[in-house]
Amino acid sequence: MSLQDKKILIGITGGIAAYKISFLIRDFVKQGAEVQVIMTPSARTFVSELTLATLSKNPVYSDFYGENGTWNNHVELGMWADAMIIAPCTANTLSKMVHGQCDHLLLATYLSARCPVFIAPAMDLDMYAHPSTRQNLEMAEDFGHIVIPAEEGELASGLVGPGRMAEPETILYAVKNYFLPQHKSLQGKTVLITAGPTYEAIDPVRFIGNHSSGKMGFELAKEAAARGAKVILVSGPTALVPENREIDLHRVTSAAEMLDEVFKHYHHADIAIASAAVADYAPKEIAPEKIKKNDDHLTIELVKNPDILKTMGAQKKQQFLVGFALETQNEEANALAKLEKKNLDMIVLNSLRDEGAGFKNDTNRITIFTKQEQIGFDLKSKKEVAADILDAVEMRLLK
Ligand code: CTP
Repeated sequence: MSLQDKKILIGITGGIAAYKISFLIRDFVKQGAEVQVIMTPSARTFVSELTLATLSKNPVYSDFYGENGTWNNHVELGMWADAMIIAPCTANTLSKMVHGQCDHLLLATYLSARCPVFIAPAMDLDMYAHPSTRQNLEMAEDFGHIVIPAEEGELASGLVGPGRMAEPETILYAVKNYFLPQHKSLQGKTVLITAGPTYEAIDPVRFIGNHSSGKMGFELAKEAAARGAKVILVSGPTALVPENREIDLHRVTSAAEMLDEVFKHYHHADIAIASAAVADYAPKEIAPEKIKKNDDHLTIELVKNPDILKTMGAQKKQQFLVGFALETQNEEANALAKLEKKNLDMIVLNSLRDEGAGFKNDTNRITIFTKQEQIGFDLKSKKEVAADILDAVEMRLLK
């Protein structure tokens, strides 16, 4: 039981997702954790204290003062906890947290807590997207808190979009992962990553290629290695060099070479992530000598390259397979179609329409799709995006 004797303080605020916290408490208790619960006054209208007290095997607190004039000591509660989880966290409580307000016990305890704080926001779509909420979530992250992003789906208002609280198992995973020794959460796993562009030769000096820098794949490799995985990185031409010597780098040039190299390792991989921007077509013939500019027109016949990811999907056994999609239109539908067509477990969509996202930038804004879920993320550095992708993989593979 990986959370044996860990002291978990759960703060529930007034959102419809409060009912799901019963399952979260049960899961924490099953993992050997000790659980105490604080509710905001409005949370009490959504879920019964009796249910929470029964499941946590502890009294539930919501006021500064208990019965018979006793004082519910927020300092003691804050000091007691090894982790504090605010779930669901409403826009109101989030705002009060990051601005130091303190008008109920949950906030006083939060301000007194010295332990890591996890925040699982839950609110309606426009509230979640509002610049003030985005700013408050960023502030919470700047304080060092761990924000567990809301998921997309049908909301209590009937609207559909991001804002639904992460599922209890996702919250549980985030907390469990935090307590793993040195975060070596991928120890014993082999991760195969493709990165960079491919160059398809036209003649000895020219090629067809693209602007991919390889940064996303190299960041994924670095993050996976930091989590203890054995990492095999198959990269097309890029100037990047892995910082971590443990990464087993194989440099290739063309899509055909990438396919060959990938299949030397794929069968042993536990996780395979195709972040390479593979050229879809290659010249049918490579001219043996440099093509001279004799004519006004030059036609080069192209033939389709092998689809490396689709081939991986067709031969998938134990591998958790992740693809990327770079779309300029009908993004969601195209990404979901690729998930299906290439037999993937997950697809990471980045849109070229987003400023700061895409090939050459150091930042990226992604949406992750599985067959059941859709999770949107803010614009972040590729390093942070790599961590988000691996968190998402681990949550589904290792739980
Ligand atoms: N990919 C691959 N081999 C190829 C083409 C793509 O492994 N020959 C992988 C990429 O690494 C990426 C995913 O497939 O993970 C999506 O690639 P993309 O080019 O966007 O999709 P395609 O299926 O090629 O569709 P289209 O170009 O029509 O959008």
